[in-house]
Amino acid sequence: MTVNDIKKICVVGAGNMGHQISLLCAIHGYKTTCTDVVPEVLKKAEKFADTYLPGRVEKGKMTKEVAEAARKNISFTQDLKQAAKDADFVIEAVLEILDVKRKLFSQLDEVAPAHAILATNSSYIVSSHIADATKRPAKVVNMHFFNPALVMKLVEVVKGPHVSDETAKITYELSEKLEKIPVLLQKEVEGFLLNRIFRVIRNEAIWMLEMGVASFEDIDKACVYGAGHPMGPFRLNDLTGIDLSYIMSMERFRKTGDPADLPSPSVVERYLKGHYGEKTGKGWYDYTQKK
Ligand SMILES: NC(=O)c1ccc[n+]([C@@H]2O[C@H](COP(=O)([O-])OP(=O)(O)OC[C@H]3O[C@@H](n4cnc5c(N)ncnc54)[C@H](O)[C@@H]3O)[C@@H](O)[C@H]2O)c1
Repeated sequence: MTVNDIKKICVVGAGNMGHQISLLCAIHGYKTTCTDVVPEVLKKAEKFADTYLPGRVEKGKMTKEVAEAARKNISFTQDLKQAAKDADFVIEAVLEILDVKRKLFSQLDEVAPAHAILATNSSYIVSSHIADATKRPAKVVNMHFFNPALVMKLVEVVKGPHVSDETAKITYELSEKLEKIPVLLQKEVEGFLLNRIFRVIRNEAIWMLEMGVASFEDIDKACVYGAGHPMGPFRLNDLTGIDLSYIMSMERFRKTGDPADLPSPSVVERYLKGHYGEKTGKGWYDYTQKK
């Protein structure tokens, strides 16, 4: 198979990442099915497509033809079998929980065609922890997009020991076809390149906050106005989801048993209150008054 054989893409999970990854694929000419287990999430993803595409046309960023073709290319269904049955490439963007991903990949292995590549958009989990849930480990790969997926250029492609050269090449080239800038990790490492760097920054930022050194607003300002970051670690955490941070820390703790991997008290407090960030209206910042 080559990248040019990819005509149909299935995106599993229509949440924060999946709804934009699927639309990205549709905009770039791929017949795309977007699937989720929660009907309201699918409805929201469809509504997003219906407002985003005309909005781009109105702003002069997209032609009417491209927008109309993209809308025709994308469809939404709760039925995984229907969504994946003739896909050439599958991108999984469901919860960052290993067992959930393993179960899903085992299902995908049953319903997706034998030639299809099964990629995971996981932020931390290396694909070798998932690949053996399928009978096609050489075709299971990390393809890590960044949030928001329609905007951020970077895609990390990870060539784990089980990944064939062909799978890594096609995944890399597909990223380019989606007008992204892929980077290839030759070895598996949990968290890949950028999230490992961000983890160090975030942990240090939370430590300074909890030690009473400075407010989270001022720590964000230091990163923006001193280091030129587009947003500080707390604002970024609100965008990516405090729930995701919590789940990832708990997953790491379960694996290592190291208390240093537990989520910090201020993250736990927000997680328990359901203050996940932008998507719930409150996180570190309050979004209920103004955007
Ligand atoms: N949020 C980010 O900034 C970000 C960035 C890059 C990568 N990621 C990764 O992308 C993945 C998704 O993250 P998210 O932030 O979009 O999460 P999310 O919680 O917003 O969305 C996950 C979706 O998956 C759905 N889902 C759960 N199990 C399913 C199943 N078996 N079949 C179909 N759908 C199922 C849920 O209903 C939910 O809508 C995670 O692995 C995460 O680590 C997230």
